[in-house]
Amino acid sequence: MLLMVALCLICTYKTISATDGGQDTSHKPQLDYSSLALPRQHIPYFLNNNKRVAKLCKEDPLCHFKGDSSLKCSSHMQFCRATNLYLDLRSPRRGHERYKEDFLEMGETGGHCRLNSKALASEGTHKSPLQSWFAELQTYSELDFLPVDDKHCDVIIDRPTVFMKLDAGVNMYHHFCDFVNLYISQHLNNSFSRDINIVMWDTSVYGYGDLFSETWQAFSDHDIIHLKNFDSKRISDCHSEGMFRAFSQHVLYRLGVPQEGPKFINALKTVPSFEVRVVDYKYKEMPFLEQIHITHNSDVFIGMHGAGLTHLIFLPDWAVIFELYVAWWYNCQDESCYRDLARLRGVHYMTWQKRNKVFPQDKGHHPTLGEHPKFTNYSFDIEEFMRLV
Ligand SMILES: *[C@@H]1O[C@H](CO)[C@@H](O)[C@H](O)[C@H]1NC(C)=O
Ligand SMILES: *[C@@H]1O[C@H](CO)[C@@H](O)[C@H](O)[C@H]1NC(C)=O
Repeated sequence: MLLMVALCLICTYKTISATDGGQDTSHKPQLDYSSLALPRQHIPYFLNNNKRVAKLCKEDPLCHFKGDSSLKCSSHMQFCRATNLYLDLRSPRRGHERYKEDFLEMGETGGHCRLNSKALASEGTHKSPLQSWFAELQTYSELDFLPVDDKHCDVIIDRPTVFMKLDAGVNMYHHFCDFVNLYISQHLNNSFSRDINIVMWDTSVYGYGDLFSETWQAFSDHDIIHLKNFDSKRISDCHSEGMFRAFSQHVLYRLGVPQEGPKFINALKTVPSFEVRVVDYKYKEMPFLEQIHITHNSDVFIGMHGAGLTHLIFLPDWAVIFELYVAWWYNCQDESCYRDLARLRGVHYMTWQKRNKVFPQDKGHHPTLGEHPKFTNYSFDIEEFMRLV
């Protein structure tokens, strides 16, 4: 999940810069290109409408405005950044797999740049759907045309675009891995503009169930785009880019979820009582924004083991999470999952302490695995519960 900051150059366009060529008087730029002072994303349009400059630039090694491409990736291609990326989706091989590894064939993706094939090939050791972009970029190749040249593309996207491979939109824990990764990627790119496209890289024919879709608004003003929307087209000029408290604050701030201060302090000041609220975070009945509003205004958050506890990310700093299930008693795989998440987020974690105060109904019934302690009902000692709280 962690992304490396060191970027290695995979595809670059070698231009002789003005300082490199300083002593060589035979190279003088044919035009004062710096006077163009254009944002990168405007260059394709500018060159398209100014054929004379485009022609001059193409022939001039000192011109940087060619619409050349670049591709830089971190180790194992966990995070990549590209400019003027070319994608040919005219004959997509869509199937049932979300992350088909041979979705793009040779020639269907690339850029106008000098490719360091060795550097590219050496980054493939972590090739897998959610850990690397190697499968998608292994066919990246050198093009002999400029991707931004409109003859070669059906669609030219000039808005900065993030490609994401999503984990599971129906599970809060898994989906928030996506959002945290997006947030870290924005730190790597040092840009938090919401005027960006977010494209779901998905090679299947299926749609995507997303129970937490409101969260996207913290990152983009635009609708999330499924890759299949571009099927049958050739696309160019995409800029592809690939911490828990900061993440929490960022999302809450951008979604406008207010924090009204610690309640227990006021309660303790007046009468020694708690304000207790039982809430059912059922996605169809309670919108996600309302859910995190309640979470963000809870001091003690008590809930069953499960992805819903990912809500702890949005608790206030002084809060405590009480997990009503002790996975380690029963040797479940994700035994310290929410304890770890609480530590990363910086909120206090607690769970049952005495095994003889918690009573499983039976040995549990997993739909396929047989007996399983996660699949049964539990009752517990109320006095012990009150003591812990
Ligand atoms: C990444 O950073 C560059 C340079 O600041 C910026 O132009 C681009 O819009 C950013 N991309 C995204 C997707 O935010
Ligand atoms: C738990 O209790 C509920 C309500 O009594 C029941 O419907 C459910 O089947 C029980 N679950 C298991 C796994 O025993």
